[in-house]
Formats: sequence, structure tokens, C-alpha cells
Amino acid sequence: MERENWTSKLGFILAASGSAIGLGNIWRFPYLTGTNGGAAFLFIYLACIIFIGYPVLIAEMSLGKKTAKNPIGAFKQLAPDTPWWLVGALGVLAGFVILSFYSVVAGWGMAYTVKAIGGFSPDADFAAMFGNHISGVGGPLFWHAAFMFLTIAVIGAGVVKGIQKVVKILMPILFFIIIIMIVRALTLDGAMAGLSFYLKPDFSNIKLQTFIDAISQSFFTLSLGLGTMITYGSYLSKNDSISDSAGYVVIFDTAIAFLAGFAIFPAVFALGFDPAAGPGLTFITLPAVFAEMPLGGLFSFLFFILLTIAALTSSISMLEVVVAYLVDEHHWNRKKASYLFGFLIFLFGIPPLLGYSSLSEIRFLGMDILDTYDWFSNSLFLPIGGLLTSVFVAHIWGAKNAVNEANDNSDILKVGQIFVFLLKYIVPLAISIIIILNIVSSF
Ligand code: PHE
Repeated sequence: MERENWTSKLGFILAASGSAIGLGNIWRFPYLTGTNGGAAFLFIYLACIIFIGYPVLIAEMSLGKKTAKNPIGAFKQLAPDTPWWLVGALGVLAGFVILSFYSVVAGWGMAYTVKAIGGFSPDADFAAMFGNHISGVGGPLFWHAAFMFLTIAVIGAGVVKGIQKVVKILMPILFFIIIIMIVRALTLDGAMAGLSFYLKPDFSNIKLQTFIDAISQSFFTLSLGLGTMITYGSYLSKNDSISDSAGYVVIFDTAIAFLAGFAIFPAVFALGFDPAAGPGLTFITLPAVFAEMPLGGLFSFLFFILLTIAALTSSISMLEVVVAYLVDEHHWNRKKASYLFGFLIFLFGIPPLLGYSSLSEIRFLGMDILDTYDWFSNSLFLPIGGLLTSVFVAHIWGAKNAVNEANDNSDILKVGQIFVFLLKYIVPLAISIIIILNIVSSF
């Protein structure tokens, strides 16, 4: 069967941006900013995106476009009869693991979308509500299944009729909702305190952990290290360009994370809540914030729809990595690969889901099962994948080849010596340090 191609440049940019923009932007970025001193974190994060994330993004997309293969096939083609394909295999495995718990969290978001329709009462105990929700079994299981089903249905339908069609509809909706949310937040009395927390840097809050968080987040948010961007790049036609498309993806992804902060912090401050609430910010603090504001029911509904859309356009890219591998290398039928592996991923998500109820005794380094999956993926798989990919592109395939592939047909933005220097030295060094620090700080 003929391999599919995106039918337009916009289709590719929206799909890759959809992959990048996800729970990482709406859920993780705001709480990391909140716990790492607001604006001070923004600076460090931006530097990581530009000097580490962008070069790796280009490296991955170039590998994909050059080979027109899934991550395993791409490494095999450029370095036949070497073990480099294992980097691709690590990516496929990471896609499998991350999607399994990503879907559980996205399922919480779907459940909260429905709860929001009923409205949140300002007197409710939101921490208890969240605790009750995640320690239930039937509810989270139902929503986890529903979310996986949506993901599977999109991927089963194909690259153009599935992924591209869905992102062309959902991404504009996502932009629109976030603008409404910002206007609402900024027009609340007291919003200025939130703005100044968000935009005035407090460098006294910068710790070593801030750098670890910033680099890991730049990987996660750009969907790097597991071959997603190799896979999406592999559906580019030879006349497409990379360096400028990658530029758009970085700009959109950063803009949405930044805007999510604008939608959240002014509201949190205006209503007297704590911005440093951590991972619970989205599910505990925000519903409480919404419950206090005029038309809060409508805005909480919109917010959780936003979260669900963002999650879906990312989850499909993770499943696509696994499915592309089965289709390319084992000539599986796309539908069969999507449904079977989607189901296996659903099953693999059940232990982290039960980690808040019947399996709550199971701990690894003090973490529950979901955090354990998250730790393995984000502290190990993604950085190691990104490290080896950049070493491979810079030193084995050759940075020059990647530069040619990336600049081909692009007239707005071209990469050059700086890109080569970053990819050869800075990226591997920075990621190696982070991997070691991450491991040392966890044990
Ligand atoms: N980038 C996505 C987010 O920010 C997560 C993701 C990671 C998606 C890795 C695909 C691959 O939520």
C-alpha cells in the first residue's frame, strides 16, 4: 500500500502542533511555573525550548522526512546492521507507556467536563471531590476507555482522513477557547496580582530542580524523544519544508503554554487561591476558582473541553508511533494495529488507574503507580531517546545531512552552524546532565 502524505503544509503544522500542545501545556506548564517562582521559570524554560527543544525537533523531523519510515525503520535505514534501531524501539515502548497513563489523566479531564455541566458549588470541598473521583474505579475506568476509544478511532481512520481531518477541526476550536478564557480571567477584579506573579521574575525561587523541570518540560511539551516527530515527519512529501514548519510548531506550542498561564494565574489570584498548588492546580484549584466567578459553570465546561481536545490531539500522535511501526515493519493492517494495540495500551493503563484505590499500597521510590510510569517515561525514556537521537543525527547520520534535509524548500527560516553546534555539543551535554541529576535526585 502507498504510504500516505499530509495533503498540505498547514495539515502537517497543525498535526505536529496538536501533538505538542497537550496536557503538558494546559496542566503541567502552569503548575511548574507556579511552583518554580513564576516568571523566573519562564526565562529558563524559553532558553531550553530554543537551544535544546528546537534543534532536537528539527533532527527528528529530518530523520522522518528523509526515510519516510517509523522510528525503528528510520534508524535501520540510515544505519543498517547496527543496534541504533534500538533507539526507535525505546521510542515505541515509551509511546506505549506514556499513552497508557496520559489517557487516565485525560479521562479525569473528560469526567470533569461532564461534572462542569452540572455546575460546581462554591461551598464544595474540591480536594475531596478530586480524591473521590480518582479513588473510584468505575468512573475513571469508563472515561479512560472512552478516551482511548476516541484515540483509536482517529488513528484507525488514517493519517489524512483521521489525524489531519481531526486536527483541522479541533485546533482552531482550541485557540478560540483559550482566548475566551483569557479575556474572562483578565477582566476579573484583582487579576493584576496574578499577572505580576506571572510576569515579574522572582529569581530567589530558582533551584537546581527548576533547571531539571525546565529541560524535562521542554522535551515533553514538544513531544520529543520518542519518535513522534520522526513519525509525523515521515508523512511529509519531498517538496515540504522542515525548518520553518518546526519554527511554527515551537511558536504555537510556547504561545499556548504561555496563554494558559494568562488564563489561569489572574483568576487564581483574583479569587485568593494558591498558585503553587502543584499537580492538583487543574483539578482542585481551578474548579474552585470557576465556582466563584460569574458564569463559572460555562467557563469550567469550556476549560475542561479545552483540556480534553489538547489531550486528544497529543494522544493520537503517541498511538501513531506504535501503529506506524506495525504497519511499516510488519505490514499490519492499520485498523487492526490501532484497535489491538489501543486495547493493550488501555489495559496497561489500568494499574496506574487503580493506584489511587485497590493498588494504592504499591509504591516505587515513594511514588504511586501513575507517577512511577511518568517518572520512567519523562525522567528516563524521553531524555535518553532525545540524547541518542541527537547523537545519532549529529555524529552518525551527519549534521550536514540533517541541515540539508531541514532547509530543503524552506524560505522563511533556515538552520545553519548554530544548529549544528547545538546538536553536536550543547544538547547531548545538557541532556546527559539532566538524566544524571534526575536519577540522583530521585533515589
Ligand atoms: N507534547 C504533549 C503534551 O504537551 C505530550 C506528548 C509527549 C505527546 C510525547 C507525544 C509524545 O502534552
